[in-house]
Amino acid sequence: GRVAVLLGGSSGEREVSLQSGGGVLAALQERGVDAHGVDPAHDDILQLRTRGFNRCFIALHGRGGEDGTLQGLLDYIGLPYTGPGVMPSSIAMDKVMTKRVWLTHGLATPKWVDLDMAAGPARWHEQVEGLGWPLIVKPSLEGSSLGVSRVAGPEGLEAAVREASPHHSPVMAEQFIAGRELTCGVVGQGADARALPVIHIEAPGGNYDFEHKYISNDTRYHCPSGLPPATEAQVRELVVQAYRALGCRGWSRADIMLRASDNAPFLLEINTSPGMTSHSLVPTAARALGVDYATLCLFLLSLTL
Ligand code: DAL
Ligand code: MG
Repeated sequence: GRVAVLLGGSSGEREVSLQSGGGVLAALQERGVDAHGVDPAHDDILQLRTRGFNRCFIALHGRGGEDGTLQGLLDYIGLPYTGPGVMPSSIAMDKVMTKRVWLTHGLATPKWVDLDMAAGPARWHEQVEGLGWPLIVKPSLEGSSLGVSRVAGPEGLEAAVREASPHHSPVMAEQFIAGRELTCGVVGQGADARALPVIHIEAPGGNYDFEHKYISNDTRYHCPSGLPPATEAQVRELVVQAYRALGCRGWSRADIMLRASDNAPFLLEINTSPGMTSHSLVPTAARALGVDYATLCLFLLSLTL
């Protein structure tokens, strides 16, 4: 059938999505799939079925593409799509809601507070007491590290909060876990969900920000991770539990910090429409299993529901 590769959109991650979607589209076409790029910023998604599409590959990131709204629309018009359905997508877009679900399942995630944006800096300083320094300030509803800062001490808090919230959107402060930055993809549904190999990300200065994700070439990705086998297994198990706790299907990718002092893993978030750019992480993990990018795209497409 005819496949719509949904890309672009109007979130802060539009440019990343154009790269993800461009890669997916070219790969599917190269493998003989009748695939067409559809940019939800310009195209009428409600008309996809009447335009003859049978399935969608969602290569959108951020709000309006990864947050359940689009998934609801596609359910409504009856078009199968890659990745999780409405509820896991909308929970996962909100890092605070995600943590609440994980905590009820006993899964480890760093301590945090939701900053009271209406209250102002004096209240923020009270709220972050107990998290220690440095701490992480980030928008609760963003991706690709947009608006994220590591704040060394109290003098940096206010500026970091303002940077995280250009439009008064919700901001959280999170305990900083000193250690290794890891990421791990999961594919499949329910009891068949399987973790991909863990990737250890080494960014210059420990700063895996937007620049080091997409622009510079100095970030090192280790896959195999080089972790002790028991730790690798523990991280994979944690990530599968995190995926199941939210009710994900298709695929997703969780980001983790491995605490240096005791090798304990902490879940940061889960991305329900992971990056598919040439630098991206799930393609890197698939390559470590001998699965090339185009084969990965076909496999993900085969899991559409
Ligand atoms: N939000 C980006 C695209 C990712 O997690 O890969
Ligand atoms: Mg993310």
